[in-house]
Amino acid sequence: EKGNYRHFMEKEIHDQPGACQHTLSAYLDPVSGRARAPDGLDFSRVDRIQIVACGTAYYAGLISRYLFESLARIPVDIDVASEFRYRAPPVREGTLCIVVSQSGETADTLAALRWCREQGLSTAAVVNVHTSTMAREADILLPTHAGPEIGVASTKAFTSQVAALSALAVAAASAKGRIDAAEEARLTRLLLEAPRLISAALALEEPIRALAPELAKARDVLYFGRGVMSALALEGALKLKEISYIHAEGYPAGELKHGPIALIDEATPVIVLAPSDALFEKTVSNTAEVMARGGPVIFITDEEGARRAPAGVRLIVAPGCDDIVAPLVYAVPIQMLAYYVAVQKGADVDQPRNLAKSVTVE
Ligand code: F6R
Repeated sequence: EKGNYRHFMEKEIHDQPGACQHTLSAYLDPVSGRARAPDGLDFSRVDRIQIVACGTAYYAGLISRYLFESLARIPVDIDVASEFRYRAPPVREGTLCIVVSQSGETADTLAALRWCREQGLSTAAVVNVHTSTMAREADILLPTHAGPEIGVASTKAFTSQVAALSALAVAAASAKGRIDAAEEARLTRLLLEAPRLISAALALEEPIRALAPELAKARDVLYFGRGVMSALALEGALKLKEISYIHAEGYPAGELKHGPIALIDEATPVIVLAPSDALFEKTVSNTAEVMARGGPVIFITDEEGARRAPAGVRLIVAPGCDDIVAPLVYAVPIQMLAYYVAVQKGADVDQPRNLAKSVTVE
């Protein structure tokens, strides 16, 4: 039920602190400070990870790649399922295939899972529907606990996927001996802070709603960021296009000058995802390049970043947070932005045209 919310999507955006909390507590123990993979998943024996998914679930996978590689030093390949199936890459022993799917029924992702099994790879499925085909067929079930997601545009399932995969990256880092017990406890504690930080990010509703009338007039919107934020830029653009029907693209900030900057003009809003992390200054200089060409910029950052932001940007100030939780925190403003722009346009937010909740045909 929607309760006091106008749409399921709005409710599901607000469900995220609980959804992430439930999901994280399946993988993280606040008492021991340990991250644990389910029985049967021994990361010390995993030499490579192949992630396969579609749409928003693919972007959750892209985010997790940064963590698996930087924390656990496990190389990660990632493909959209419809390409992976037909690319049929050479497989190597020691590869763990992780499929990511809210429904657990997406045809291409399921076919990829079956193909990996046929190749003799061990498989794990990050799924929200625990009785789904993928949940049954994968060797290892990695549940998200978002609860039923009704809105066609994925929100709480996405952040729950990111939460589960982030916790698993910590478990993998520990199993691989890349972090000691103190570091594992520190990362566990940081991840367990996510629900509170997501709640704090939900308080950005009013400033974001205030941006909707102007953004709703745009024909094109660009999103950019660096590192994990480049993956979140793709998710932000997908969210906006699928429910508001505005053309949007996400880019790694450094790619702008290799083409997309040609699109910038006064009528093309640019959303910059810029937490004050190690890459912040580089994102700022990319933002300055956009401003120099007259592009209106919405700069989503934290308090520290706001102090160092280029003059003339519209600031959205998110809660300050550690890198490991930033994708979860910054997901909230981009979801709300898409939501309020769609509402402003009078679009059918929960049932966007041409889309189905679960894509069970190729
Ligand atoms: C976008 C969205 C889709 C799904 C994709 C995969 O908001 O919901 O892109 O993420 O169709 O669906 P699942 O996760 O069920 O495999």
